[in-house]
Amino acid sequence: MSVRISQIFYGTLIHSLSLTELEFIHNALLGVNNQGKIVFLERNVSNEQTLRDIIKKWETTEDKVVRLTNRQFLLPGFVDTHTHASQYPNAGIGMDLPLLDWLKKYTFPLEQSYSSLNFAEKIYPIVVNHLLSCGTTTAVYFATIHLEASEFLAKIVQLKGQRGFIGKVNMDRKDPEISETYVETTESSVKDTEKFVEYVLNLKHESTDKSCLVTPIITPRFAISCSSELLNSLGEIAKKFNIPIQSHLSENTEEIATVSKLFPRLENYTTVYDHHNLLNHRTIMAHGVHLSPQEFKLLKERNVGISHCPNSNFTLCSGVCNVRQLLDEGIKVGLGTDISGGFSKSILDSIRNASIASRTIYMSSKTSDKVFPPLTLSELTYLATMGGAQLVNLENVIGNFIVGKEFDALLIDPETEGSPIHIVDELDNIHRIFEKFMFLGDERNIKAVFVKGSKVSGTDITNLEANKY
Ligand code: GUN
Ligand code: FE
Repeated sequence: MSVRISQIFYGTLIHSLSLTELEFIHNALLGVNNQGKIVFLERNVSNEQTLRDIIKKWETTEDKVVRLTNRQFLLPGFVDTHTHASQYPNAGIGMDLPLLDWLKKYTFPLEQSYSSLNFAEKIYPIVVNHLLSCGTTTAVYFATIHLEASEFLAKIVQLKGQRGFIGKVNMDRKDPEISETYVETTESSVKDTEKFVEYVLNLKHESTDKSCLVTPIITPRFAISCSSELLNSLGEIAKKFNIPIQSHLSENTEEIATVSKLFPRLENYTTVYDHHNLLNHRTIMAHGVHLSPQEFKLLKERNVGISHCPNSNFTLCSGVCNVRQLLDEGIKVGLGTDISGGFSKSILDSIRNASIASRTIYMSSKTSDKVFPPLTLSELTYLATMGGAQLVNLENVIGNFIVGKEFDALLIDPETEGSPIHIVDELDNIHRIFEKFMFLGDERNIKAVFVKGSKVSGTDITNLEANKY
């Protein structure tokens, strides 16, 4: 297939180069080829002649140019590094209990419904549509223990063109304290997981379409719901197929106490996963709220990423994760919504709650020896994009607009109908408008969503100026 320019964007681009470098590129001209890659990025193209010269140089035509208004901008797509697609019907309910009771009362009964493929067919397409409309171009999903329904989730993510890491959940520990009915046998858990992994890898291999971006991810629910034998087998499957791993770690103090009761010979919660060969540079652990210094060290040594899910941590009263400390220790961090522990489907909400969590930590550290400054706008933007990309080992593929990367992007319009953002001409430059979007905006401001160069959600963008009311 010959490579040609398929789309060019002209306007403001905002992206992260590092935690401390948030770059605004004005009058940018960005070219995407028909394979979804960014092939050029010219800065300060401030007159029409220069624009035409560049277009000519790339042997393309002006009709490919999408012209943004002076208040619109492009952002890299958001990465949700931890969410439970299956729990979407419970988002917004059940906030009265801590983790283990919440799982038993609300979560496991809902997840059990996915033994019916019909139920999955009703829910999963809506989940993926909603996440895409919120700007989540990459999502790391938990499904349920059910093979068929989990395969269906992978197929839907593929069909809708989202970049997705999909996990069939594993849980074989039958325990009245945790779950007596929503469990698998160790044998069926292992067998179904292998089948699931092969199914998803085949989706990828069989696809002639460039948009197949799904990857299986090994998903022991958490140490409490898995036997040692199952954890070992899952470590082996991850190695055999060379695929990533996800789970929950150190979310709640009662959970941690239960883990130490179940694995009395292992030093701490993190060691339990390490002992079963589940920690490596492709592992994503959700939460990490109550980690000891030894656990920090081990996570760093294994290059494990932490998915910070602040809405969930507040909602389930799990605790406040000290992201500043994780970053200072050199541990990779991304953001997660953790539906339905967290009630919001949007990474914008994770950004805001991550900001508030960091302020909470800051306030209580102010009088101690070690002060932990709140996360900055630049850091929050990084965590939602590049940080997430690092967790899924795609930092060289997505996360910002570096030439050669794939074009996963959001076209933001702060002035759409019903927009929650109030702009004042005399005050608001693009820097202020961006900040307002991050703290006030919602999916009404996300005019179009692109994954690997293809528009996967949003409205017609062929004539943006004319689209404005
Ligand atoms: N720990 C084990 N399972 C879950 C879950 O479904 N949600 C959250 N937040 N934590 C968990
Ligand atoms: Fe979770």
